[in-house]
Amino acid sequence: MKTFSTSKELGDYISEQKKDGLTIGFVPTMGALHKGHLSLVQYSKQNCDVTVVSIFVNPTQFNDKGDLERYPRMPELDAKLLDDAGCDILFLPAVQEIYPEPDTRVFDFGQLDKVMEGAHRPGHFNGVAQVVSRLFDIVKPYRAFFGLKDFQQLAIVREMVRQLKFDIEIVAAPIVRDSDGLALSSRNMLLNDVQRKSAPLIAKTLFEAKEKANKIPVAYLKEWVINSINKDAELKVEYFDIVNAETLQSVNSWGDANEVFACIAVQVGKIRLIDNLRLV
Ligand code: PAF
Repeated sequence: MKTFSTSKELGDYISEQKKDGLTIGFVPTMGALHKGHLSLVQYSKQNCDVTVVSIFVNPTQFNDKGDLERYPRMPELDAKLLDDAGCDILFLPAVQEIYPEPDTRVFDFGQLDKVMEGAHRPGHFNGVAQVVSRLFDIVKPYRAFFGLKDFQQLAIVREMVRQLKFDIEIVAAPIVRDSDGLALSSRNMLLNDVQRKSAPLIAKTLFEAKEKANKIPVAYLKEWVINSINKDAELKVEYFDIVNAETLQSVNSWGDANEVFACIAVQVGKIRLIDNLRLV
């Protein structure tokens, strides 16, 4: 695996690969890699000739300074995992490399970022769009791979690609879960033992909600999910919504959309976990 820390060197190397007719697959990450990230690497390897992974903890997408400081960083271990997974190129830029000047762009995502994560983390998706577009400009991939765990992020990235007219195929990969159902997240490693034991209740409740979908009214199911999770003293639901997968807006009844997703954010002590599941 080759490692680059400057856009120039990475860009030059990628241009050479493209001249040889090779397709570039890209997996942007913030590091602290887990099996979810590695599954994206595998999708890229199956679908593209050369796989590039970036590790960059993007300051502009953190609305909470404490969250940015707490975010786990382990570049050496990550590099080893990527090498073992068969990644071809690791891009490890410094903040100055991605933002030589402050990025003042303000995106308009309409209603897509007014709900759920967007409503609870002001500026978060603007920062995601800034960094992903910047990385796309540098890597110029043929396909880019994102996990479905960040369901709203995926919608924002697709919209950003549409607005900025990037010729890049965005590929969504399924959530990878631990054996107890907990959706894999870099933040899981910040949970203490008691919190880690409580956290799988989030996924368990979503899967039970799927069984109840179509059988009870949407509003009842919402209340049931929130109450079931809040019963555990370690967990506090920040938001739970049942939404149209395309618009991300709440549905009032099960027939309101072709695809209906349950999306949740839960505070576990200072750690914030998100998850989602298709209900209909
Ligand atoms: O999902 C993430 O890890 C980040 O939001 C991303 C897409 C790498 C942008 O910083």
